[in-house]
Amino acid sequence: MEWTREQRYRPYDQHSALELLKLQRQADNSPEQLKYHIRPTSGLLNDPNGFSYFNKEWHVFYQSFPFGATHGLKSWMHMTSPDLVHWRSHGLALAPDTEYDSHGAYSGSARVVNGRLCLMYTGNHRDDDWVRTPYQLGAWMDHNYQVTKFDQPLFVNPSTITEHFRDPQLLEHDGRFYAIIGSQDAENKRGHIDLWESDQLEHGWHELGHVDLGQDDLGYMVECPNLITVDGRQVMIFCPQGLDPQVAPYDNIYPDMYLTAESFDYDHPAMINPDAHMQNLDDGFDVYATQAMNTADGKAYAISWVGLPDLEYPTDNQNWANCMSQVKELHYHDGQLYQNPVPAIRDLRQTDQAINIDGQVETINPEAGQQFELNLTLPADQTGTLHVAAKEDLSKSVAINFDTQAGKLTIDRGHTDQPTNLDYGTSRTVDLPAHQALNLDIFVDHSLIEVFINDGAKVMTLRYFNNQANQLLAFDHPVQATGTWWPLSDM
Ligand code: FRU
Repeated sequence: MEWTREQRYRPYDQHSALELLKLQRQADNSPEQLKYHIRPTSGLLNDPNGFSYFNKEWHVFYQSFPFGATHGLKSWMHMTSPDLVHWRSHGLALAPDTEYDSHGAYSGSARVVNGRLCLMYTGNHRDDDWVRTPYQLGAWMDHNYQVTKFDQPLFVNPSTITEHFRDPQLLEHDGRFYAIIGSQDAENKRGHIDLWESDQLEHGWHELGHVDLGQDDLGYMVECPNLITVDGRQVMIFCPQGLDPQVAPYDNIYPDMYLTAESFDYDHPAMINPDAHMQNLDDGFDVYATQAMNTADGKAYAISWVGLPDLEYPTDNQNWANCMSQVKELHYHDGQLYQNPVPAIRDLRQTDQAINIDGQVETINPEAGQQFELNLTLPADQTGTLHVAAKEDLSKSVAINFDTQAGKLTIDRGHTDQPTNLDYGTSRTVDLPAHQALNLDIFVDHSLIEVFINDGAKVMTLRYFNNQANQLLAFDHPVQATGTWWPLSDM
C-alpha cells in the first residue's frame, strides 16, 4: 500500500481503537512473528530508545508507528524486563502531542537523575510549508511509568547545523550533564557527532562542538550516537550515513559502526588515542541504530533495531515491520568488542539434544522448526554448509557456509521463499582465523537469525522469510560437529 503524507501524519486520536485492535491481531497471527524478541505490537518498530535500568527493572522504548508498516508519525513505546530477556509491554510512553514533537517523538536516551528517569529525545516539528525544526526535548518518568514532558525545549540547532540534528544521548560527567547528538554541518553538509553541555539539565545548554573521532569523514549524516565504557575502554557506537566504503567496508544501505579510544575529552570534544579505523558492529544484513548503556556496576549492554531505514520487508503487506535484537553483553579485549547473549536467555531453553556427529550423518534434526538455539563446534579444516529452516530437499534454507581451513563464514539468505532487499546482495562473509575450530551460537526466531561467532568476536544478524513448514536443520554432507540444540520457549 502506498501511504500519502496525510495518512502517515494523521494524529493518533483520529485513528479508531478498532483499527488498532485489528492491526494488533494481524501482527499476533503473522506466521513470521517473533516469539522471544521485542517486536511491534502493531505497525512499524524502529530504533531502540531510552535503554536503561531504573527502579529495579530494565527499560527499553522503541520508535513506533502503530498504524501500519511505514515510517509515519513516530512515538515511543515502553517495555520493561526483570532480566533483559522477558519483556512486558506498557504501550505508548511518549506521544507526538505537543507543538515541539508534533511530527514525531524521535529517538533519544534515558538516564536516572535524582530518583527519576530523565528521557531526552528529538521532537520533530514541521510548519505549514513542511519546513522542519528538530527540538531537543526532555521528560521525566516516575516509578509508576507516568511521563511528564518538560514545558520548554532544551535547545534547537544553531545556524551552523541543518535540520538533521537528532538522537541525543544524555551523559553525566564530573557533576555536569552532556549530550552527544547526530548532526549535519550547514556549510558542507557533512555528518558529525556534536557535544552539548549543561550544569542544570532542564536549562542552560550550550554547544561545545564536533567530537573529533580522528576520522577524516563520516558521510553526510550521523544517526544514533552512543558513548559507553566497555572494560575501561571508551566506545562510540554510531550510524554514519553515506560513508565511503573505502573508509570502512560495509554492504548494507547504512552501516552501524563502532570506534574505541583510550579516553574521552569532554572539554575539547574528542576521542583520545582512538582506533585507526571504525568497524562494523554486526556483520549481517539488518542491524542499525544500536543503543548501548552502562550499569552502575560497570557492565555494558546493547540492543539493536533489526531493520534498516529506506528499505522494505516482506511483512509490510501484513501491516507490521521489524523487530529488536536480543540484548547483548559487551566486552572489550584484543583490540575489539565482543558481544554475547545475556545469561537469562538460557532460561528459555527446553529439553536439550546433544549433537555428536562424526562424519556419518548430515541431519541434526528433521523437525527443528524455527524457534531454537544451536550451539555448535566445528573442528579445524572442514568445509560445508549448515542449512537452517530448510525444506526437505534443501532447495530452500538460510545457508551458513563454513570453511575452517581458509577461515571464512558466509551466510546466504538468497535461497529463501522471499529473498529480501536484493539490491544489497544475498550474502555476507566474515574472515576468521584459518585452520582453527569454529564455535557458533545460533538463535532462530521465525524470521530472525542471530549468529554469535567464536565467543562473540563477530555477530551476524539477519531477517529471513521462509515458509514456516521448512523445519529441517542439516548439513549438506556428513561433517564432524559437536554441540547442543535446544527448542526455546516464548519469552
Ligand atoms: C534512525 C532514525 C533516527 C530518528 C528515528 C526516527 O533510524 O532515522 O535518526 O530519530 O529513526 O524514527
